[in-house]
Amino acid sequence: MQKVSQLYEGKAKKVYSTEDPEVYIVSYKDDATAFNGLKKGTIAGKGVVNNRMSNFMFKLLEKQGVPTHYIEELNDRETAVKKVTIVPLEVIVRNTAAGSFSKRLGVEEGKPLLTPVLEFCYKDDALGDPLVNDYHILALGIATREELDTIAAMTFQVNQVMLDFFRSVGVDLIDFKIEFGKTSDGQIILADEISPDTCRFWDVNTHEKLDKDRFRRDLGGVEDAYAEMMRRIGLA
Ligand code: TMP
Repeated sequence: MQKVSQLYEGKAKKVYSTEDPEVYIVSYKDDATAFNGLKKGTIAGKGVVNNRMSNFMFKLLEKQGVPTHYIEELNDRETAVKKVTIVPLEVIVRNTAAGSFSKRLGVEEGKPLLTPVLEFCYKDDALGDPLVNDYHILALGIATREELDTIAAMTFQVNQVMLDFFRSVGVDLIDFKIEFGKTSDGQIILADEISPDTCRFWDVNTHEKLDKDRFRRDLGGVEDAYAEMMRRIGLA
């Protein structure tokens, strides 16, 4: 599988076309941003961690019946994926209060939630990815009712698989963000990435943060946290 031309460069990944019109190649960068690009930096080796961890998670989820864009890991930073059109929603699940949820609702970080919370943000950098609900999504034609039901059901299944897996390696899955894509034949599948950039991981015992919050909040030990997550999942 060869890259033909670069189609897109995002904050953390590049996407290339291939000779196969249904296959893209994603290439993970070490670049890191936060606060809608306001804070910029580099996390050495992050691209490798995010590529390999995402592929590990996609394979685990596929085994549990969740369709994903994953095709084949090509090298440490690059993966062949199914071509999709991204549904412009950041789909967030929260098991424990943290981040913007804690800020917006005045809830202490670390407070367990009685049920998982599903949130949607409309992916639009110029607007700062505003929070939207089902009505906004249907009214604006961002997704149909059927697509939204599929996305919600798949997202809760992803949450259960991830909660169980990370708990088994001593990590609490506090919250995460995923994205879905639509294939040429209209199927909704899990796309984008699952990594310490897009999840909050806390050590079960010490509650130490093992994710991108170390970068967002200038806590130090960013690379070590990413490396520790690779060890936990058995990839290093
Ligand atoms: P939040 O608490 O800042 O809304 O973040 C919720 C989850 O979404 C957290 O696991 C980090 C992840 N996330 C992203 O993947 N991309 C983003 O741009 C933001 C703001 C959060």
